[in-house]
Amino acid sequence: MTDDGAMDYEKQLVPTRQYSLFAKILHWGFVVLFIYGILKQVDNIAQLANVALLRFELLFAFVLLVLLAARFGYMTKTQVSSLPKETPYFQKLLARLVHLGMYLALSSIALSGILIGLLYWMGIKTGFFIALVIYIHEVSVTVCYWLIGLHVAAAIFHRLKNDGVWSSMVPVWKETTTK
Ligand code: HEM
Ligand code: HEM
Repeated sequence: MTDDGAMDYEKQLVPTRQYSLFAKILHWGFVVLFIYGILKQVDNIAQLANVALLRFELLFAFVLLVLLAARFGYMTKTQVSSLPKETPYFQKLLARLVHLGMYLALSSIALSGILIGLLYWMGIKTGFFIALVIYIHEVSVTVCYWLIGLHVAAAIFHRLKNDGVWSSMVPVWKETTTK
């Protein structure tokens, strides 16, 4: 064992570090929430004329935002990345930027969604301002897709490297062999 409790990377079975069960529930719970959010997306602003839908969308986005803030707090205070110590600085930085980027993009989707809903509720249904907020909402969705794509590609890259990063978060196709 090393000082911080991690196993000696070269000698031991992977994984070297593990996220807590709660961190994993948060991570995978969010994947489900995000997929749900995409599946039930508003296809056209006219749909918001349905007050029940408008209320539900606002509540969903608000809950997502609160949970996201709670997750960010919990993750930054209690968990550390499972990237091996010898990972090059540039790669660590990139991973951190992609993780932060996903938090920001998800927050931006929820915040812009809430703003669209409030504007619509206030009777501002057309015009430059609401068009701008919808544009920001859509750009945030696109950025989020790209970051998630990069993130999943990186996770698969680590699984192929067999360095323990995959198994620290993903409950299937576990790494079990010695590096
Ligand atoms: C909506 C989709 C996803 C989002 C928004 C997301 C977001 C994140 C974030 C922000 C982290 C950093 C830890 C944290 O703060 O929770 C993380 C870690 C991780 N995620 Fe995801 N993730 C998604 C989907 C996936 C999928 C589909 C996989 C694998 C197939 C995956 C594999 C991992 C792994 C292995 C880690 C640990 C990385 C490390 O320790 O550096 N994620 N994810
Ligand atoms: C946080 C949860 C939300 C998610 C995951 C989400 C997701 C999406 C997605 C994927 C799109 C399509 C983007 C595109 O085609 O590029 C979209 C568009 C849109 N969303 Fe959301 N959204 C959320 C919250 C909201 C809220 C709260 C409102 C307003 C009450 C809203 C109103 C709209 C509108 C007006 C559009 C544009 C539809 C059009 O093209 O005319 N969204 N959203």
